[in-house]
Amino acid sequence: MDHGETEFLLKLEQLSIGYEEPLISNISLTMYPGEVVSIIGASGIGKTTLLRTVAGLVAPLEGRVNLNVKKRGGLGYIPQKLGLVHHASVSHNVGLGARAGTSFREGPMTWVGRRNERVEIAIEQMGLTEKRNEPVRRLSGGQQKRVATARTLAQRPQILLADEFLSELDEDNIQIVVESVIDYVKESGAAMILVEHNTERAIQLSNRIFRLVEGELVEQFFQGGEEE
Ligand SMILES: Nc1ncnc2c1ncn2[C@@H]1O[C@H](COP(=O)(O)OP(=O)(O)OP(=O)(O)O)[C@@H](O)[C@H]1O
Ligand SMILES: [Mg+2]
Repeated sequence: MDHGETEFLLKLEQLSIGYEEPLISNISLTMYPGEVVSIIGASGIGKTTLLRTVAGLVAPLEGRVNLNVKKRGGLGYIPQKLGLVHHASVSHNVGLGARAGTSFREGPMTWVGRRNERVEIAIEQMGLTEKRNEPVRRLSGGQQKRVATARTLAQRPQILLADEFLSELDEDNIQIVVESVIDYVKESGAAMILVEHNTERAIQLSNRIFRLVEGELVEQFFQGGEEE
């Protein structure tokens, strides 16, 4: 795809990731607004480590993560281990995302109003309206996944990282969640990297797919669901 003068949102430059020894080396990837990239690969290969490195939670061993985000809370992360506040309500948890993503600079009069509106919209999109006042610990695994997704949508990030965010959801909920998230990416011009263990779903959701294999990030090409 030719992106002409469009500004990139994310650029991974000869990135090497891991803890002491590198898991994956020489990762280069540039992403533009509205793009969705999926990362697939075996368990333990380093998919979560890659997202955590992009999110700034793990230091790169070599190379650079270059994020072109222009607002507070510009990077949103739906982690595999959700990191929800279990004793607090659904709306409180979603509110934490909205708080991370709205700034006083948007105008003090509308600041709180906009934050609350984002919370309500995200809760409704994720089908959690009836659970909004329940403590998160009383929710099922799939419901908790949806709280984490609502929290990140309420943040309105420019770069969205999602680690197996559809696991534990049934088909109906997958459709609902996918639609809300992909609509958000397309409408807002965000860029999304998702880790997905289901290859068919990765094909359905993304513009490009990469596999982590033998220490490298390799682009995969599919035709009619079959690998070329
Ligand atoms: N904090 C850490 N310190 C040291 N090693 C770690 C740490 N976290 C993960 N690892 C190791 O790094 C490797 C990659 O882990 P990672 O969580 O990135 O895999 P993954 O591809 O996301 O796997 P899965 O599909 O099971 O979620 C594993 O061998 C794991 O044990
Ligand atoms: Mg993982």
